[in-house]
Amino acid sequence: MKQVFLETHGCQMNAADTDRMEALLFHSGYLRTEAVENADLIIVNTCSIREKAENKIYSLFGTYRPLKRRNPDLILGLTGCLAQQEGERLLKRAPHINFVMGPDEVERVAQVVEAATKSRKSRVWIEFDKGKEYAIPQIDLLPGERANTSSFVNIIKGCDKFCSFCVVPFTRGREKSRSADEICAEARQLIDQGAREIILLGQNVNAYGKRDLIPAVAFHELLYRVAEIPGLERLRFTTSHPRDFTPETVTAFGELDVLVNHLHLPVQSGSDRILEEMRRGHGVDEYMGLIQALKDTVPDMAFSTDVIVGFPSETEREFEMTLELMGKVGFSNSYMFQYSARPNTPAADWPDTTPEEVKKHRLQKTIELQNRLTHEQGQRFLGKSVEVLVEGLSRKSSDDGTPRWRGRTAHYWSLQFDDPESKVQQGDLVTVQVEGLRGHSFFGSMIGCNGEVPQKNPVKV
Ligand code: SAH
Ligand code: SF4
Ligand code: F3S
Repeated sequence: MKQVFLETHGCQMNAADTDRMEALLFHSGYLRTEAVENADLIIVNTCSIREKAENKIYSLFGTYRPLKRRNPDLILGLTGCLAQQEGERLLKRAPHINFVMGPDEVERVAQVVEAATKSRKSRVWIEFDKGKEYAIPQIDLLPGERANTSSFVNIIKGCDKFCSFCVVPFTRGREKSRSADEICAEARQLIDQGAREIILLGQNVNAYGKRDLIPAVAFHELLYRVAEIPGLERLRFTTSHPRDFTPETVTAFGELDVLVNHLHLPVQSGSDRILEEMRRGHGVDEYMGLIQALKDTVPDMAFSTDVIVGFPSETEREFEMTLELMGKVGFSNSYMFQYSARPNTPAADWPDTTPEEVKKHRLQKTIELQNRLTHEQGQRFLGKSVEVLVEGLSRKSSDDGTPRWRGRTAHYWSLQFDDPESKVQQGDLVTVQVEGLRGHSFFGSMIGCNGEVPQKNPVKV
């Protein structure tokens, strides 16, 4: 078989697209390799969410040029959001690239690669899929492949929100939902193959089923359907948009045992004026109301978020309002970004008034606050027992060679623990006493495996 080297940048949607390309290419004769120098085909799946992400890709171009010089038959493809955004311009910048392919062409990757092997002429494939349906036909797993313990399932693609700073609606096209039957069938297949947790995936999952889905299924109804699948231990979804979050979805958190008590809910800013400029379609009160409704439904609910600092015209006071909101909610984790002007977006035409040093300083303050909040949240777990879903062996074993496992708590903290009696397997639910905290990770001691709690150390879970 020929060999393909796949490199992924950006979000979970890109990671899912890479997995899909791997499977599709396998069926047309390419096996994935981790050794780039052995590859017959290199695909770089790119991101353009911020300028930094984009620059990283440009600096990669040079890296692969010598490989191409050594092996003129090597096919070099660039896929993902930067490919969609830049199209032909990428070929001008780097003529040694054989094809440029947008995210909506992923299902055609084998055809694109075949065309590239037959013709020496570089080509751009960035058509948006105009069909009404969004389907991901089931394909067999690769030989020897097991599903990840925590597996993603795409439920909606694209985004119609057009936040004024964001490139995604231009790179991923219009929102389109996948049929609930197909989603449930994929989740069932993954669980049969070893998955214990399903994470429903989309740029705005709460818009699921709002347009063109026949038969119509609302997002909360999908949650109830997936939750029923036997063998599923945990259910999550990401990313949520506060504006599309329905009361029925809040209720689902109270009713569905498998729906975990953690939610990633991007807020972006704590100022109503900035939220309006960002075209998020909600204010601070609505966001806080939603957080409160969820806390009323599930008292130990934990939240994480995304924040942008230095949005055009953001004042120092407005920035402080973001810090205040973060403190009020007490996020367990945040992804924090300095505003970056993106092509085609409305905000890119507005004066970027905040000097670079001020943006950097605001980001620094935000990170410091979040570190403190994370520490405060984490401290509450010290000495307590938590249930951990074991995702795999940690990269490092302990000093004496005892197997060390890594997993996550329901609240989405990562956790590592040693397994001196080698009792644990990937996919197990293990009770661990939390002993230490580093950043957003715990370490601890195992006190029970799959419901069993040793007599000498009884705990309530
Ligand atoms: N669909 C999700 C987020 C997608 S992008 C949502 O609406 O919440 C992930 C995060 O990147 C965003 O939440 C935002 O915080 C950040 N981001 C997006 N565009 C950005 C830009 N131009 N500059 C800085 N951060 C940006
Ligand atoms: Fe971008 Fe807004 Fe869509 Fe999220 S909801 S992907 S931030 S346009
Ligand atoms: Fe990046 Fe595209 Fe995802 S821009 S964050 S890879 S949707």
